[in-house]
Amino acid sequence: MLVNDDLNHHIRQVLDELGITAAILARNPIPFHPEPAQLVVAETGTDGSEYLLIPEAARAWAAMKESAREDGIVIELVSAFRNIERQADIIRAKLAKNMPIETILTLSAPPGYSEHHSGRAIDINTPGCEATEEPFEHTDAFRWLSLHASRFGFTLSYPRGNKLGFIYEPWHWCYQPGSARSEA
Ligand code: DAL
Ligand code: ZN
Repeated sequence: MLVNDDLNHHIRQVLDELGITAAILARNPIPFHPEPAQLVVAETGTDGSEYLLIPEAARAWAAMKESAREDGIVIELVSAFRNIERQADIIRAKLAKNMPIETILTLSAPPGYSEHHSGRAIDINTPGCEATEEPFEHTDAFRWLSLHASRFGFTLSYPRGNKLGFIYEPWHWCYQPGSARSEA
């Protein structure tokens, strides 16, 4: 991934602070995701957290959640849009546990390079499952998503063995604009 020419001063400062050098950025071909112009509340968590997405992705999420519910499957958001500071805080927390930055970057994208910065990515969970952990793949919710999410325009970004260098994330799905099928 190359440092985008338009990368603003704030993002450069944050990347520097986190020890994410140009050499590290150059190693992985992941794209920069500009912050979206418009975000809407896609869901409010039981703890009052507001999950933001671009309007098209929020509509697709609502339709997919309703379709899952009709099939007896409960899916809920545990993360959606994340701004630069939120993504940086996730990485800072791992640095504070002495995790090397190279290891951290297999778990979390650099600020600005996370799909969550696009307002199109969501982390999904289902009751009874620990959020953002691999056993999510053994839930009925994941089986349902594997069969139906593409109809609503959502694809699994990080399957096992993905070439982007991230661990397998069965919980992380990203909305591709214009890709929802009409029957969804
Ligand atoms: N966990 C994914 C790779 C992210 O941080 O965007
Ligand atoms: Zn995610």
